[in-house]
Amino acid sequence: MLIAQLSDPHVRPDGVLYQDVADSNAQFAAAIAQLHALDPRPDLVLLSGDLVDKGMPSEYAKLRELLDGLEIPALVIPGNHDDRDVFRNAFRDHGYLPSAGPMHYAVGTHGPVRIVALDVTLPGLHHGAIDDAGARWLDEKLAEEPARPTIVMMHQPPFATGIPYLDPYACRGGERLAAVVSRHRQVERIVCGHVHRFMLLRFGERLLCTAPSTTTAIALRLRPDASPASHLEPPAFLLHHWRPETGLLTHLLPIGAFPGPYPFA
Ligand SMILES: [Fe+2]
Repeated sequence: MLIAQLSDPHVRPDGVLYQDVADSNAQFAAAIAQLHALDPRPDLVLLSGDLVDKGMPSEYAKLRELLDGLEIPALVIPGNHDDRDVFRNAFRDHGYLPSAGPMHYAVGTHGPVRIVALDVTLPGLHHGAIDDAGARWLDEKLAEEPARPTIVMMHQPPFATGIPYLDPYACRGGERLAAVVSRHRQVERIVCGHVHRFMLLRFGERLLCTAPSTTTAIALRLRPDASPASHLEPPAFLLHHWRPETGLLTHLLPIGAFPGPYPFA
């Protein structure tokens, strides 16, 4: 099973640049085109939050127009830049989304890997949180299918990155998540967005990775007094490949046209 993860596209209204510098709509369209060019194509696309930049209905209209061109099934979660109500309305045809409250869900109908999405966003705030109710929901969902390879998807990552301008906006209550996932060995990966960079670490005895954004990359600055910045690095996405013999293997693919192919391996 091939699962693409696109994150943080920050779609804007037609003709408007993201942060006045990046054509995030064109970049998201390029990401979708690159998915379609993969052979074999992914079975499923995960969109891990910040689907639009300011939660505006005109942004969701543009997002849906772009996603109407996607020929692969997609599962969505909101990020801190999404508006929960406008988001829910924009995706009212996505029957797996609950009709009220946090948008937690579990979907296992696209192949062997089951996707369990935990909505850790807090409306109006940039950081996220896992409360007791969210941790209990996740524990119960994971207990339903203990032998099924599983991806847990959330927006804000539950750890301190070491990048000082990101860490105030992490997901709080990570110790609750670590306790839950450590009890469920079938969790092949916890996948997040939010930080606009690829990161990989062990978390709660499982493997956790964050996806780059399809638009800007947040600068990797590790000094405690560093000031916030971003770059127009080559955007990228993740491709999670599940096979019984390896478990889940994650590729990082830059988006764009590059010289090649050349006749050597
Ligand atoms: Fe973002």
